[in-house]
Amino acid sequence: MDEIERIYQLRKELHKHNYNYYVLNTPEIGDQEFDFLMRELQDLEAKHPECYDENSPTMRVGSDLNRNFVQVAHKYPMLSLANTYSEAEVSEFYERVKKSLNEDFEICCEMKFDGTSISLIYENGKLVRAVTRGDGAQGDDVTDNVKTIRSIPLVLHDTDYPKEFEIRGEILMPWEVFDQLNKERELREEPLFANPRNAASGTLKLQNSSIVASRKLDAYLYSLLGDELPGDGHFENMQAASRWGFKISEIMRKCSNLSEILEFIRYWDVERKNLPVATDGIVLKVNSSRQQRNLGFTAKSPRWAIAYKFQAERACTRLNKVTYQVGRTGAVTPVANLDPVQLAGTVVKRASLHNADIIEGLDLHIGDMVYVEKGGEIIPKIVGVDMDARFMVGDKVRFIDKCPECGSPLMRYEGEAAHYCINDTACPPQIKGKIEHYVSRKAMNIDGLGAETIDQFYQEGLIRTIADLYTLKAPDIARLERMGKKSALNILEGIRASKNVPFERVLFALGIRFVGETTAKTLAKYFRSIDALASASLEELVKVDEIGDRIAQSILLYFSDEMNRLLIERLRESGVQMQMEELDLSEYSDKLSGKSIVISGVFAHHSRDEYKELIEKNGGKNVGSISKKTSFILAGENMGPSKLEKANKLGIPIVNEDDFLKMIE
Ligand code: IVH
Repeated sequence: MDEIERIYQLRKELHKHNYNYYVLNTPEIGDQEFDFLMRELQDLEAKHPECYDENSPTMRVGSDLNRNFVQVAHKYPMLSLANTYSEAEVSEFYERVKKSLNEDFEICCEMKFDGTSISLIYENGKLVRAVTRGDGAQGDDVTDNVKTIRSIPLVLHDTDYPKEFEIRGEILMPWEVFDQLNKERELREEPLFANPRNAASGTLKLQNSSIVASRKLDAYLYSLLGDELPGDGHFENMQAASRWGFKISEIMRKCSNLSEILEFIRYWDVERKNLPVATDGIVLKVNSSRQQRNLGFTAKSPRWAIAYKFQAERACTRLNKVTYQVGRTGAVTPVANLDPVQLAGTVVKRASLHNADIIEGLDLHIGDMVYVEKGGEIIPKIVGVDMDARFMVGDKVRFIDKCPECGSPLMRYEGEAAHYCINDTACPPQIKGKIEHYVSRKAMNIDGLGAETIDQFYQEGLIRTIADLYTLKAPDIARLERMGKKSALNILEGIRASKNVPFERVLFALGIRFVGETTAKTLAKYFRSIDALASASLEELVKVDEIGDRIAQSILLYFSDEMNRLLIERLRESGVQMQMEELDLSEYSDKLSGKSIVISGVFAHHSRDEYKELIEKNGGKNVGSISKKTSFILAGENMGPSKLEKANKLGIPIVNEDDFLKMIE
């Protein structure tokens, strides 16, 4: 078999393994074997750019090309559903349909998934476009991002699908992925997502599809549209879609009377808590398309369907006191301590009060009877006070002004709701948090040092700052509880290895407020050493691409603190990288300084990502779309016709890859 044949064979096999794993949940091969095949395909495709296929399984990994979304009109408007909240309203809907149709009918009951809706267009069995709901009439083209979702088929199985059709569904972030993502965001001092719905829609709108790929979204499809559908029944059409390779919820039932519908609702109201994704209700749809057409639409929603929304579960209990938790960033969170109460299957004793404004808004007093809710959010929250039950209340709750851990004054940054403890160098939860961040995987990646071990080292007085890690001695660790010689040596080896971590990650690991992974990379490339960064002025800092006033101020504040400067000196003396390596510097130039460059097409010598890096290393800027400001287009084979037309119209030069490489030689 020649290499080209092998490419086609690998694509077919990988599509099948994807489907087995992500749709059927029954993988036939292990992860490693899958990666192996994927890598073989990637290598062969790089060798044979003439075989480029925008629906190849390799497209699932995403690209880091920036692009703004193009607006696309929906062929059929994306409407919403009328909501109902009680069995009585469901019964009214049933009676209305019965009266209007005046013939037998079936209702298909299914879960209402709580994510973000998507419309997928397929032509000749291939995914051609994915569009968000937008305003219902038109939405954003998010095809590249959607291609990274493994449960959405790029190429369909079977052959009995219509030539052109649209399928709609919900993009979701499973609870497990959501929890993990929030944990990572907390470490990086990034704001947390309130619920999986926000996380899914935020992810889908990211400009960088390789980050989307890493977020592991999932999708359930729930509606098929087009001129040539397999049959009249919605349920049956969804079964057909499932044969073509789509992920359809197994929780669907055709009901022929009201009591079957109510039975479904009552069962899933409880059972939904065991599902891996968030749901917020049940959707009832008249099954026959003919009957749906007869019933028609109101201005906003179909008359043939409604949503029964689950009650956000709520309980009433007494507020005993408010305590305050200091997080690793110094943010102080007020926590309501309650009389234990049963709520959504668990006993709730504590609920978040978020910030001072929320407390003020509720006019909270100790002893109040408060309403606690557990909706789509993970942490229960207090949503109101039962004023009728307020007789013998205690003091009004006032937000504290000193840190409960170290007694330092609290401060509130402009435009932020949270209060912070300003003592970031000596407040215990902040110190421990900083060390946890420093050793974390994306920072210095020091194995064997979890939160518990760090707490233990802290309690024993072994570490007070990240620099103390480098003076730890094996016997000091080995004598601790649950430690031995072997784990001590492992930890020390991890710490030693961290001295080879490149400067850009060290800069991220320092935990300067607002300096996340990407910002650290940008700053490291621009300033190249900690000394240059530390002596930069506000004007110099804001000159750097993507560095605004907020980040710049935070950097100035960090380096104005003598303790931080001493800390950096100690780290440097221990051998931690405080500048870009010489080797890296040689690859940099300013040959493309001031140039905005669009990359388009398929290349023979380097991948797109490598070209992007080359542009940046030579001082240029890689941009996603062509405009008047574009300096030139770096074009490979098969440059898109619309891009070519736009470039010609604006008179923008097109540079091929060989000439480009000569330019930066
Ligand atoms: S059918 C005409 N089925 O709920 C509307 N929608 O308010 C047809 N949703 O934006 C929608 N699960 O994003 C339908 N099983 C399901 C659904 C579902 C979730 C969402 C959808 C829509 C919203 C309707």
